[in-house]
Amino acid sequence: MDTRTVRWLASPSGRALLHDLPEYAESSAIATATQLRAKGVSPERAAALLTQKRLRARAQEKFGEFAEGMLFTADGLEQASRLEVAATHAGRYAAASLATVHDLGCGIGSDAMAMSALGVTVHGIDQDPVTAAIADVNLRPWPDSRARIGRAEDFRAPADPLHSRVGIWLDPARRTPGVADSTGRTRRVFRLDDISPSWSYVLEMASAVPAVGAKLSPSLPHDIPPLGTEAQWTSWQGTVLECTVWWGPLVRQAGRSARVLRAGAPPVEVDQTMADHDPPRARTLAQVGPWLYEADRAVTRAGLIGAVTAATGGAELEAGLGYITSDRSVDDIGYARRYAVAEAMPFSIKALRGWLRDRGVTGLTIKKRGIRLDEDQLRRQLKIGRGAGDGEQATVVLTRVAGEQAVLVVEPT
Ligand SMILES: C[S@@+](CC[C@H](N)C(=O)[O-])C[C@H]1O[C@@H](n2cnc3c(N)ncnc32)[C@H](O)[C@@H]1O
Repeated sequence: MDTRTVRWLASPSGRALLHDLPEYAESSAIATATQLRAKGVSPERAAALLTQKRLRARAQEKFGEFAEGMLFTADGLEQASRLEVAATHAGRYAAASLATVHDLGCGIGSDAMAMSALGVTVHGIDQDPVTAAIADVNLRPWPDSRARIGRAEDFRAPADPLHSRVGIWLDPARRTPGVADSTGRTRRVFRLDDISPSWSYVLEMASAVPAVGAKLSPSLPHDIPPLGTEAQWTSWQGTVLECTVWWGPLVRQAGRSARVLRAGAPPVEVDQTMADHDPPRARTLAQVGPWLYEADRAVTRAGLIGAVTAATGGAELEAGLGYITSDRSVDDIGYARRYAVAEAMPFSIKALRGWLRDRGVTGLTIKKRGIRLDEDQLRRQLKIGRGAGDGEQATVVLTRVAGEQAVLVVEPT
């Protein structure tokens, strides 16, 4: 697709054709393309319409009903912040009363749209011409916000950012354009040195403009964010998506924090002021109490398991794994799941198989942290499947307690 095709897709005739197209299905794609050709649509435009229809269907998961009004590239969709997370980013700029944000590497414009919706004018730039053109189309509902082609490195910071209420947002690409991995997706980069724009450029911007946010990989080491910044790990439905570093007026609480997002629940924030500095640890398996708490992975990544021990009066089973044992039952704290512990025993296939057999368990949910083993092989050894069949269903947690491999049979509450 080229920028002319993007402009055509966004024109009244392109929009009308896209709107009237049936839901994308691989089996009917050729027939649909033939019908479009019969209406005088060129092969390039027909292909672009079908691609957009397919990507819109895929984008529903990230953008819900908003996907219907947006254009995408496959890479742009893959890299875009999901709606709930983009809203989180945008909220910081709006709360800091910034009038304008420069989005340097704006992709298809998900973050830029969320900021615009909160009344912030966004100037987006992207080095990829088609991506920039698509972002500009996606920003149409907010005429003051625009996106154009450009390199972040050519951006000149305003001379007086303090008085111009200007901020910067950077979501550097963590993928190599044009290079596919084994799944056909653009290949991920894992080193901070490989992101684009670079980490040194992010730091340069942060020294030029006070209000800067940069979205980075959730594997960001704790010693990278500079002093005075806030590094926030965000999860969606239990999966950690990112660590965003915030500078200046965008900082809520300097240090490390976690934001836990779940469908249908208000966001929950955890910061270092809530956490035990040196969380207590279980010293033996016998210390495992009647309740187990499983910290959300954003909390674990942020190194804030101490917030769970503080909230539950509990102790970590093993440093950093995110399992906390407690004698106390604490109602939903929003950033840890609670389980009732039925049994805690040293890990042994034979003992576990016997325990499950004695209780008629025929379906097993396996959770594991801190233990390397192949789940399928374990199921074969235990002679047990996932579904309960006509027997009982159980959940086991395979982990380490005070350095030793252990099994906890638990019940979600
Ligand atoms: C992760 S995506 C941004 C996603 C965006 N925040 C969203 O939610 O839709 C990063 C984008 O940065 C662009 N990019 C990478 N290096 C750049 C550079 N040096 N200057 C401008 N854009 C760049 C890529 O083309 C890509 O579209």
